[in-house]
Amino acid sequence: MGGLNAKIFDVGRVRAAYPALADGHAYLDGAAGAQLPASVIDAIAGAYRAGLGNSGGAFPASRRSDEITAECRRAVADLTGGQPEGIILGPNMTTLTYRLARTLAGRWGPGDEIVVTRLDHDANVRPWVQAAERAGATVRWADVQLPEGDLALPQLAELICDRTRLVAVSAASNLIGTRPDVAGITALAHRAGALAYVDGVHATPHVPVKAGALGADFYVTSAYKWSGPHVGAVVADPALLERLDPDKLAPAPGSGPGRFERGTLPFADLAGVTAAVDHLASLAGPAPGASRRERVLASMTAAEAHEQELFRVLLGGLDAMEHVTTYGKAARRTATAYFNVTGRTPLQVAEHLACRKINVWHGDNYAWELAGVLGLRESGGGVRAGLVHYNDRSDVDRLLEAVGELGA
Ligand SMILES: Cc1ncc(COP(=O)(O)O)c(C=O)c1O
Repeated sequence: MGGLNAKIFDVGRVRAAYPALADGHAYLDGAAGAQLPASVIDAIAGAYRAGLGNSGGAFPASRRSDEITAECRRAVADLTGGQPEGIILGPNMTTLTYRLARTLAGRWGPGDEIVVTRLDHDANVRPWVQAAERAGATVRWADVQLPEGDLALPQLAELICDRTRLVAVSAASNLIGTRPDVAGITALAHRAGALAYVDGVHATPHVPVKAGALGADFYVTSAYKWSGPHVGAVVADPALLERLDPDKLAPAPGSGPGRFERGTLPFADLAGVTAAVDHLASLAGPAPGASRRERVLASMTAAEAHEQELFRVLLGGLDAMEHVTTYGKAARRTATAYFNVTGRTPLQVAEHLACRKINVWHGDNYAWELAGVLGLRESGGGVRAGLVHYNDRSDVDRLLEAVGELGA
């Protein structure tokens, strides 16, 4: 890999790139949205400063917008292992998934089946369930095994059959971090002739992504989870997209990913998405001569190792406290801790931490089915402390000390 050394990860250098981190807060809310490095903020401002036009015009400002869009597709392809011609851009994952669900369900009818899981964020559940209901198709549910908090391949093998049209599964749980055997599940889907829609929103910021190796016919991600602006993207095989028939305006593009993109794209934000991919590619240090794709893979490998090292300390510390219950024990997880404190609501814990300048999320985090499986839906869910590449040991130590105070 071009002489890259995946071990070069200097969290101090990484943190210095993020202006927001200078406010003294421990940002452990990254799973809900990451902070932006200065390079991304500058790229967005720079695009506006240079002058933008709507797409398809003959003048330079319009040409700039078109080039920004093309470059953004190349960047997302480099991040995920896709092809630029197969990158659909849009406002966020939820909107894009509703669009794809409407398009794909146009071919479903009674007797057809889809498979969704109770591990997934609701954005990879409800759009499919509602589309199936409208089409008269049947919904099959993959359960979560406890205490691991993982899906079981044997159950999925029973659920997926020649009537299955689509399997929707997450590459990582946004609540407890579980990374299920996506390649195994998509292989079952393909053997049955079904499509696999993989929610990569939580996985993408934490691991090197190879959408092809995952067997994802569609891999969906949201840039605001990986230090970019609020833009979503679907990664698909361009040939597969050509076979689909989305609702679109008559004069809108007749081929390519633009057929799925409604209205005008946020060009300046797209420049920010490209800058975010370039930033991720730079995390593990300079690597002269390597392609951006190679640098992304090396950087994300190093970022994952950094996060996992901190996660061991975080989980070990939480599990050692008698007044704390943690959820999930899957063998493969992102660095995402979900826990409760005896005698306190998740909101009370989050408020206690906020007073100490520690940002965490509380609630079900839209993992609605999983919160039900864990028995937490009615009680306000739990507290989520999610590590991303810019977190350091002091963030973890501060969290453990503050949670420890609640047991005194
Ligand atoms: C795993 C997962 N899927 C989907 C979503 C929804 O993403 P968006 O906000 O881009 O619609 C989220 C957001 O938190 C998420 O964590």
